[in-house]
Amino acid sequence: MSKTIIVTGGAGFIGSNFVFLMLERHKDYRIVCLDKLTYAGNLSTLEPVMDNPKFRFVKADICDRDAVYKLFEEEKPDIVVNFAAESHVDRSIEDPGIFLETNIMGTATLMDACRKYGIERYHQVSTDEVYGDLPLDRPDLFFTEETPIHTSSPYSSSKAAADLLVLAYHRTYGLPVTISRCSNNYGPYHFPEKLIPLMIANALAGKPLPVYGEGLNVRDWLYVEDHCKAIDLIIHNGRVGEVYNIGGHNEKTNIYIVKKILELLGKPESLITYVTDRKGHDLRYAIDPTKIHNELGWLPETMFDDGIVKTVQWYLDNKSWWENIISGEYQQYYEKMYGDR
Ligand code: NAD
Ligand code: TYD
Repeated sequence: MSKTIIVTGGAGFIGSNFVFLMLERHKDYRIVCLDKLTYAGNLSTLEPVMDNPKFRFVKADICDRDAVYKLFEEEKPDIVVNFAAESHVDRSIEDPGIFLETNIMGTATLMDACRKYGIERYHQVSTDEVYGDLPLDRPDLFFTEETPIHTSSPYSSSKAAADLLVLAYHRTYGLPVTISRCSNNYGPYHFPEKLIPLMIANALAGKPLPVYGEGLNVRDWLYVEDHCKAIDLIIHNGRVGEVYNIGGHNEKTNIYIVKKILELLGKPESLITYVTDRKGHDLRYAIDPTKIHNELGWLPETMFDDGIVKTVQWYLDNKSWWENIISGEYQQYYEKMYGDR
């Protein structure tokens, strides 16, 4: 059956991959992307689907109630998937305010529109960072959906606040919601302020690779397409009011990732530069995906060794995409974050 889905933040990394997957998989669906086009949103990313009659792009802020309500009136969406967020931990440490506005108030505004106009499903794209971190010396511990919320950064706190609001709108107003909490994604269109694309871009430019602390922090990496497939399953078959963790047991230290990228690019390890650690740096993230596997049959399809090769190749094949991004404002950001670190 045909459906209309509003995808917020669809000009960003994961949202754009989700837009592509949905248009590919559900030919009769209408996909409407609502995006403010912040520094992290790129219209050029959506170029391949701009002429698709089943796709519409609307530039708007999820905090702008009038614009959001107008879009709901026009499109009468069946499903809303909220990717729109300020997403970078380091930026949240520098300036938390915009994280609270977009990630919390924006989520509330979208859900108010869902209440006003009626909706089949509101899906909140959240993060495993709401669980805080795990110790490095307890590899037996994983985040389950029952792990208490225990955040470290302004970013993760704002995402946790949004999750609590989503669950409150379900309990109080009966809004049909689901939440997914995913581990670190990687793949095409990843903004080059995040670990993997930053290291690829710097290595190709022969610039130092800034590793925080000793590089021993652990992240649980998931290929972005696997995340998008999990969300597709949840919005169609997930139980209302439920939280689903998404991750594929792909834990790596940061230094392993950085060395792997250098190896794939044939660049020397002498480019690695250890810099001052991130404030409040979470030690280890690791997802237990048993619930989504048992209930919805989801399993990751791309193993890290394949995914990282595909990702590095994508950055080699799409230099103009990221070279445009790292000119201009990005240079000021880079100087501010890494200049005297
Ligand atoms: P991103 O920073 O690449 O993209 C965010 C997008 O949201 C951009 O297109 C931006 O323009 C848009 N946006 C920002 N503020 C907006 C606003 N006020 N109104 C409308 N649009 C706005 O982020 P991403 O990495 O693609 O992450 C997407 C979602 O997934 C986020 O909610 C993030 O918390 C979550 N998440 C990300 C990861 C990861 O590894 N990247 C892991 C787990 C969860
Ligand atoms: P990041 O990609 O910012 O994702 P998150 O903080 O949401 O996990 O960082 C991934 C890991 O890489 C994290 O432990 C911080 C580290 N890191 C560096 O060592 N150097 C860098 O320049 C960046 C951006 C991150």
